[in-house]
Amino acid sequence: MNSRDQYIGIFDSGIGGLTVARSIMEKMPDENTIYFGDTAHLPYGTKSEKQIRDFAVNDVTFLNRFSLKALVIACNTADSVAREVLEEKFDLPIFGVIEPASRKAAHETKNNRIGIMATAATCRSGAYEKQIRKYNAEAEVFAQPCPLLVPLVENSRYKKDDPVVQIILKEYLAPLTEKEVDTIVLGCTHYPLLMDAICSIVPQINVISSSQAAADALYEGLSSGGMIREEKGGEHRYYVSDDAEHFHDNALIFMEKQLVGDVEQVSI
Ligand code: DGL
Repeated sequence: MNSRDQYIGIFDSGIGGLTVARSIMEKMPDENTIYFGDTAHLPYGTKSEKQIRDFAVNDVTFLNRFSLKALVIACNTADSVAREVLEEKFDLPIFGVIEPASRKAAHETKNNRIGIMATAATCRSGAYEKQIRKYNAEAEVFAQPCPLLVPLVENSRYKKDDPVVQIILKEYLAPLTEKEVDTIVLGCTHYPLLMDAICSIVPQINVISSSQAAADALYEGLSSGGMIREEKGGEHRYYVSDDAEHFHDNALIFMEKQLVGDVEQVSI
């Protein structure tokens, strides 16, 4: 297989990483992708660091059976906690969500006050603060854990006119607006679906999707390495560690269209 034709391996704790896969497919429709969702163990965001690292190593061990040209850690929680161990264990070009979104926020903020909305584990890790400070030493970063947002989105509750969505978002956004942030990073796979709802509450704030930033950074990385696939029409495969049918049906929420490609359940 020509190295350009190899797969981009994408993994997440479950289904939310499809927002990253979707951004990648929209940006690079001719790339071959393999997605692994660890649906048997989700959510990662409430788990201990050790568990998240162990799960992430298993996820990548599975994906590494395929011929990969790049690995994308789509899960913000896994990227914030397990990246180092994955870099130690696997000889693959590794891309993620935290560095690209941090870089964008660090460059776009005007008042150097940046908010992060993420899972409890991502907030606890301090990974966003660390990356943002690398690009902007003046930046002050305020992390807001948002534990209700993952179940909300997985139950199709993300539309801006949904009163429940509005109430919950207002509660999470209030501490960030009090700190007068001018930029917010959506530091979780699920939150890009809430973009319209968030912008309707804080229209004055620049809101950055970590999923889109990840796809843009992957494109930059593959282009500069001469690794973009030249043939037309990418192939897409999906694997999960639990209930393929449930994943297939719920994918509609995250892709906003039917999945193209089969979903297979595997034990890892
Ligand atoms: N994929 C996770 C993230 O981006 C959210 C879901 C979970 O907690 O597993 O942080």
